[in-house]
Amino acid sequence: MMKEHIEEAEKVLLHTYNRYQVVFDHGDGVYLYDEEGKKYLDFVAGISVFALGYNNKEYNDALKNQIDKIIHTSNYYYNVPAIEAAKKLTKAAEMDRVFFTNSGAEAIEGALKAARKYAYLKDGCTDHEIIAMEHSFHGRTMGALSVTGNPKYREAFEPGIGLIKFAKMNDLESVKALVSDKTCAIIFETVQGEGGIYPATDEFIKGVRKICDEKDILLILDEVQCGMGRTGYMFAWQKYGVKPDIMTVAKALGCGVPIGAFLLTEKVAQNSLKAGDHGTTYGGNPLACAAADKVLEIFAQSNIISNVRTVGDYLYDKLEEIKTSVPGVVAHRGVGLIQGLEFDKPVAPIINKALEKGLVLINAGANIIRFVPPLVITESEVDAMIKILKECMSEV
Ligand SMILES: Cc1ncc(COP(=O)(O)O)c(C=O)c1O
Repeated sequence: MMKEHIEEAEKVLLHTYNRYQVVFDHGDGVYLYDEEGKKYLDFVAGISVFALGYNNKEYNDALKNQIDKIIHTSNYYYNVPAIEAAKKLTKAAEMDRVFFTNSGAEAIEGALKAARKYAYLKDGCTDHEIIAMEHSFHGRTMGALSVTGNPKYREAFEPGIGLIKFAKMNDLESVKALVSDKTCAIIFETVQGEGGIYPATDEFIKGVRKICDEKDILLILDEVQCGMGRTGYMFAWQKYGVKPDIMTVAKALGCGVPIGAFLLTEKVAQNSLKAGDHGTTYGGNPLACAAADKVLEIFAQSNIISNVRTVGDYLYDKLEEIKTSVPGVVAHRGVGLIQGLEFDKPVAPIINKALEKGLVLINAGANIIRFVPPLVITESEVDAMIKILKECMSEV
């Protein structure tokens, strides 16, 4: 059955992914099941999405209830799930205003537009520059792609939105060298995800904040992957004692229902996007917002973030042990439940072998295995993962 479905898929879906040869059918807790009933321990969570674990009854019921009421209206009307989700999200993010999007890339688009409009309102010019980071990843739409640091993703689609410069993550001097009177924003992921799991250093994030304050440049922090509890903080920047002017979120915000958001301080909101400047048909619809509202409620009422800290530390120790004892493992980075193990060669064979053995892993760049499980994972499930990982490493 699985083989036929894969063959059918290859005939009709645009080939933009080299997919693993598996068709997942359903999930429960931290386990996925393929169409033939095989069970897999999931350390990917749909790439940092399914924070709550699969088949969470409270979450499923909230969606079912909303489906029976109304799924979509339009942003020309108010809806209660959007108001409730916005209240909870602005509180959790310590920001003032939110715009709901359908994805992470769209959240980035909105953030970039807000920053350019903010600068435009100050001097009436349209030649403002944005500083982004090398090895960053912000999404595949034109604006998000333009600030994505990996030239491989951008090359065929240049010139993008233009006036983007790339500095080095965690190298403050490289940022300073690029700042000019035309700089309107500096954007980076608080923990770089796709680029190889590089958390911002304390010195870097504080230094960039200082530059932004001195020159009225907006700091945009992309929390699409590292936000929503994944680092052991609701948002990764909350650990550093500095605050962004604009923040983006998606992935675990809807736990599978497509929703993202960009959030702004009141000052930026009052001096940037106005009625008519930005919009979306689906963004913030009642179904997506019912999902986000329930996710945010569960985050506020459960011990999910303290679980990330405890189990994240446990995972950290186990991966450190592998780093020091297994030849070919060259680095280990990360925090909470976003960690990476870097090898001296491509990790695809290990990931394929793990899949055979019922463990779902994913890479971040060719040589790094990224560990981003559901946030409800336990220490014994970490043990189970480590056992299979060790077998795979010795077999390939
Ligand atoms: C940090 C970061 N920003 C933005 C995006 C884009 O999000 P989406 O795939 O929902 O458009 C991603 C996706 O992986 C991401 O990791």
